[in-house]
Amino acid sequence: MEKLLYIDSCIRREESRTKRAADHLMKKIEESGKYEIESLCLMDEPLHYLSGDFFLQREYLLSEGQRKHRRFDYAHQFAQSDVIVIAAPFWDLGFPALLKTYIENISVDGITFYADIEGCHGMSQGRQLIFVTTRGGYYENTPLEMGSLYMEALSVFFGIDEYKCFFAEGLDIEGNDQEMLMQNLLDEIDKFAADRI
Ligand SMILES: Cc1cc2nc3c(=O)[nH]c(=O)nc-3n(C[C@H](O)[C@H](O)[C@H](O)COP(=O)(O)O)c2cc1C
Repeated sequence: MEKLLYIDSCIRREESRTKRAADHLMKKIEESGKYEIESLCLMDEPLHYLSGDFFLQREYLLSEGQRKHRRFDYAHQFAQSDVIVIAAPFWDLGFPALLKTYIENISVDGITFYADIEGCHGMSQGRQLIFVTTRGGYYENTPLEMGSLYMEALSVFFGIDEYKCFFAEGLDIEGNDQEMLMQNLLDEIDKFAADRI
């Protein structure tokens, strides 16, 4: 059975439209019975960004080749997942800092990637990364959209074979029918689930 890791970075929790869409996708995934699912709600995880002693400890452990230290558990879990679903709202042209903090913790030389004289190479066994997001304004195909773009780059960096983004946008534009925009997103997820899950 494939391993699926669900990473919830929807800061507004039950109020979050992104979470509503991601929950819809996860329900389809659960119903398929095809995956062994692990979930991380980042808001409840003891995550730290890299600085000070926490940064220095990482440098020390990596220089000693100690990649079994518990602080690298997130990176091992990510690297060993076949499918990864990440849900995060569009914030400040990208995504919340909490998700970046998680990414700092999983980007570990020798676990999710390795570097040699030719550059960096992915080490993740991931087959697919699915990113679910919602945006207040319109950004598709503009240089200002750096949430999905970053996630796609991260997939390449970690060696994940396929990237897919589900998004709704324009949700905070006055006069837009929010419910209709969300329903379109849920319909798109349903179509994907019917074909690919
Ligand atoms: C801190 C913060 C930053 C945001 N930054 C942007 C932004 O740069 N561009 C945009 O269009 N909307 C922005 N928004 C609006 C959100 O993208 C939009 O409301 C989204 O649907 C929120 O998702 P959620 O309902 O899952 O929390 C921001 C909202 C917050 C709270």
